[in-house]
Amino acid sequence: MAEATLFIHDLKAAVSPGGRGPLRGRDLAKLRVHSPASVAISGERVLAVGPPEEVLREHPPGPDCVTLDGRGTVALPGLVDCHAHPAFLGDRAAEFELRSGGASYEEIHASGGGILSTVDATRRGNEEELASAVGRHLGWMLEHGTLTAEAKSGYGLDRETEMKSLRAIAGAAEGSPLDVSPTFLGAHTVPPEFDSAAEYVEFAVREVLPEASTLARQADVFLERGSFEVPEARRYLQACRERGLGLRLHADQFSERGAIPLAIELGARSVDHLEATGAEGAKLLAGSDVTAVLLPGCALFLDLPLPPARELVEQGGIIALATDFNPGSSFCESLPLVMSLACTRLKLSPAEALSACTANAAHILGKSGEAGRLAPGYRADILVLDAPDWRYLAYHLGGDRFAARVKSGKLL
Ligand code: NIG
Ligand code: FE
Repeated sequence: MAEATLFIHDLKAAVSPGGRGPLRGRDLAKLRVHSPASVAISGERVLAVGPPEEVLREHPPGPDCVTLDGRGTVALPGLVDCHAHPAFLGDRAAEFELRSGGASYEEIHASGGGILSTVDATRRGNEEELASAVGRHLGWMLEHGTLTAEAKSGYGLDRETEMKSLRAIAGAAEGSPLDVSPTFLGAHTVPPEFDSAAEYVEFAVREVLPEASTLARQADVFLERGSFEVPEARRYLQACRERGLGLRLHADQFSERGAIPLAIELGARSVDHLEATGAEGAKLLAGSDVTAVLLPGCALFLDLPLPPARELVEQGGIIALATDFNPGSSFCESLPLVMSLACTRLKLSPAEALSACTANAAHILGKSGEAGRLAPGYRADILVLDAPDWRYLAYHLGGDRFAARVKSGKLL
């Protein structure tokens, strides 16, 4: 009988997405709920979750076991942010003010601002400054209950700064309790020193990808007017796939231009954004194994139409939720706030929203079976919510009142 090293007793409830692997369609809402509950942890892993007497009988806490009184609180799996851009310097507060006065995100981008202004600021800083910015951003995410996160590069767009970004992500991850999954967003947009998207993609594939793929786990492209079209995206993603990276696409944010068929053709892990996706695209995506990542914080921040969340779920698709944390289109690191928006704006139920930013988000990052569930054998990444009902996580607007956070079996 394995001995418990951490024991959370007499919780009002312990809640987790059910099943295994990614949850499709209606299965998204099928939670595993124990009420009341205790949780026994050994080292980095969950040993048992269940009725208090049963867990106590099977895994009695030894003399060195840390115990936590769970009365009046509920336990949930640590949140997983599967789409985030924490590697940047500078800010876009001035652009935010321009947008408040009526300028659009795309107009600002077309005039050389937007993403390119962050590229400029990020190129000018050194690696230490960038690593410290990434560390600060990961700290913000942690405060809101994120225990596993993606971290994209993409504000370098030259060899030196893309590598500086990926090294800064690795360095910051070492000093953070978060489990960080790095993504090479080498095709974010076309930097000013290149005349065409095709030329830039050739450069990124030949000159940056070989080294970037030694640090990154996924690759990402922004398929949109003003950035990359299908032929360049295909070239970039195929080359990244050959290097063993999982494929992601920023797509259908402002216009539909063939991203969903391309993602299916290439076996991508996800298509993210989808604010402009029509009925046909939603149906195609829902029938595929590609996850639809919905970013309601971005839709709110840019005042965009909402992605077709309900259609995707009703048609049996795999969806995930994420913050899209970045300085321009979604300066928001809170997954509980994203869950609130998902319920109020996208009409997901709290249960669907929870599974979408735990189990399904972990699936995209290749961490199914490790993160995203509060169940025996999973990594002990646990949020103890200071609330009488787990739904407060979404119901309380930005509901991140945590009594405790446990990362890999350690109380933070
Ligand atoms: O997910 N759409 C492209 N990329 C980011 C925004 C980057 C930025 O504006 O700095 C996004 O919205
Ligand atoms: Fe993004």
